[in-house]
Amino acid sequence: EAPRDLKIGSAVWGQRDLLDHDRKDLTEFQRILAAEFDSLTPENDMKWAEIHPEPDVYDFSGADAVADFARAHGQEVRGHTLLWHSQNPEWVTEASATWTCAEARDVLEDHVRTVVGRYAGEIYEWDVANEIIQDDWDAGGVQLRTEANPFLKACADDPVDLLGDVFRWAHEADPEAVLFLNDYNAEGINAKTDAYYELAQELLADGAPLHGFGAQGHLSLQYGFDESMQANFERFADLGLQVAVTEADVRMPLGEDGEPTEEQIAVQAERYDKMLQACLNVATCSSFTVWGFDDGRSWVPDVFPEGYATIMTEEFVEKPAYDALLDGL
Ligand code: XIL
Repeated sequence: EAPRDLKIGSAVWGQRDLLDHDRKDLTEFQRILAAEFDSLTPENDMKWAEIHPEPDVYDFSGADAVADFARAHGQEVRGHTLLWHSQNPEWVTEASATWTCAEARDVLEDHVRTVVGRYAGEIYEWDVANEIIQDDWDAGGVQLRTEANPFLKACADDPVDLLGDVFRWAHEADPEAVLFLNDYNAEGINAKTDAYYELAQELLADGAPLHGFGAQGHLSLQYGFDESMQANFERFADLGLQVAVTEADVRMPLGEDGEPTEEQIAVQAERYDKMLQACLNVATCSSFTVWGFDDGRSWVPDVFPEGYATIMTEEFVEKPAYDALLDGL
């Protein structure tokens, strides 16, 4: 339970954790998910590859499982995501090789209207566009992801025009939903968030229904904490946008025994709290979501040589990070 209207959320993979009844710890997992959180984000179920696996096939089973669970437990749903360079189905990747911008727009418009329309009235925030700006370490530097993102690539002559329309289609399909830009390495003030700040102004000047800016909050103890997070949120709030922490986790390199040190555990707690405070201190911060709450389901060990990223162990033992968030509210 958070002050004002701040929603505390977790990602959950409906297909894996709400529908697959083979996992032994599912009941306990679901009990905690229902008890501790106000908001659920489908970890994968609304991504293109899952929800739109073939040109004329939509599969809503995983996403419905998340929406049904949320409804049954009085929770809200954060939609994730409509436009991304990753986890696209093969048919998109193949077809996009020859897309004109008009063809790409048609495919994207059908998808956005269909998916947003299906859950209209049930989703309070949507990550409309995810990770659409590169980092300074990427080839080409900080700029719109017009190489890796098939839709932006097809419309590289005027990608901002396409982006504005993606927000318009989503808004028409669900006028109540708060529509977000969302990215990683977007916590502090840096070259990437400067580019987002420009983009947001451009979209707003074009009259696009952009309502929010989300910082994913995937941190690692290998890097420092950017103390400009609150100031970064404030500048987006000053544009009239909501802000949110959308995918918080704090990973760390582990020793040979696979265990963190006491110090790492303490710093992890502090980092979670710093992200929460940056949110709480900005009036328009509307949601704080962790990207899964237990290490047994975290995406981190699959992708990074790191772990211990969530607020509970595999056995659902609450870490100091869990206490820090509760105390920080
Ligand atoms: C991750 C999921 O957690 C994994 O299960 C999946 O294999 C890959 O994607 N940024 C995002 C999320 O916006 O959608 C990603 O989720 C993590 C990084």
